[in-house]
Amino acid sequence: MNKPVKQHLIDPEICIRCYTCEMTCPIGAIEHDDNNVVVNADVCNFCMDCIPVCPTGSIDEWRVVDTPYTLEEQYGFEELPEQQDIEAAPVAGEEGEVDDSIAALLAEAHQGAGGKARAPVSASKPQINMYNLGKPAKMTVQGNYRLTDDPDHDVRHIILDPGALPFPVLEGQSIGIIPPGKDAEGKAHLPRLYSVSSPRDGERAGYHNISLTVKREQKGMASNYLCDLEKGASVNVTGPFGATFLMPNATDARLLLICTGTGSAPMRAFTMQRQRADATGGMTMFFGARTPESLPYFGPLKKVPKKYLRQHLVFSRIDEAKKEYVQDRIVAHEDEVAEMLGDERTHIYICGLRGMEEGVEKAMTSIAESMGLQWVNLRDSMREDGRYHVETY
Ligand code: A2P
Repeated sequence: MNKPVKQHLIDPEICIRCYTCEMTCPIGAIEHDDNNVVVNADVCNFCMDCIPVCPTGSIDEWRVVDTPYTLEEQYGFEELPEQQDIEAAPVAGEEGEVDDSIAALLAEAHQGAGGKARAPVSASKPQINMYNLGKPAKMTVQGNYRLTDDPDHDVRHIILDPGALPFPVLEGQSIGIIPPGKDAEGKAHLPRLYSVSSPRDGERAGYHNISLTVKREQKGMASNYLCDLEKGASVNVTGPFGATFLMPNATDARLLLICTGTGSAPMRAFTMQRQRADATGGMTMFFGARTPESLPYFGPLKKVPKKYLRQHLVFSRIDEAKKEYVQDRIVAHEDEVAEMLGDERTHIYICGLRGMEEGVEKAMTSIAESMGLQWVNLRDSMREDGRYHVETY
């Protein structure tokens, strides 16, 4: 009998195949095929460098096993295997107790995972990974519209038509775009991820077409490819991906949306879906951009009725006005946010620049304090309930 060992795995249902972990791993322990991203148990030394860079938390999975899952087995995973029953006792012929970290993992498996991203209880079950690098979905560009008037800030609304291909997406999911051509090593490019900005039944209701919100980055290969696409062009798409940053279907749920720039993509999808469903719970949005001219969907947002969406549009670069970030406006509207934090129907979504997270944490900490609560406890229990969601980059 083998001594039990700890094995690092990746949850294929939640992983969005951004390959950030693989690029970060200093010893090449992470690899991928067309289907999954996997960890080589013979190489992984538990350095943990890959954990904080993963945008979904799918990387933070551990099992205690008698024999580690091979790469071949992991490539075949459609979902993570359950923790097997393992005796947390000294193994015959070995000295000492079972490793502390293994005992802790087994105890955790027994209690169920804590602190992980979860989907809202009433969310629909998403489809994931239907199309991959070896078998992408070919979609046709239906439109490519500029969303911003600022000449130095080109953000596009790009509409893709999967035609007869089934490609079901839920609001908050992402898709991968494979840029054409080869990289410097002559290999096909990896897909780049974009959050879907249209609702589940389509940009145009009933048509199941999909929209993206893409900012042209100066040297961004994929973003320039997308922003230059002409109507009728064909695009190779992977996905859909993501199983936690989803909206509740409960129509009385209340949504607190906090975003910057193109982080508004899933918020637009949520807003359209809630309007189409005539949801009663209401949404409050804190949306940060440089100026009104660089805020995606500025015009359409103005038309969303207040009964669905209360808007705080926050600008950082308006001449003669004080620089303002979303977290500043959240603090300025402390009572409104506190009232929402105190309501168990409230779900929080944060999407956009990674730097915003620290500021929002500080703002929430001070608001929770004024309610006599500790933000970390409130946040963790909301996350546990599937009511706290973060996607930053
Ligand atoms: P800044 O003027 O400092 O760049 P975009 O992606 O369209 O540029 O918009 C991002 C918005 O988020 C900008 O207004 C930007 O302000 C702002 N921003 C930058 N850093 C942070 C941060 N740490 N917290 C919150 N907002 C930020």
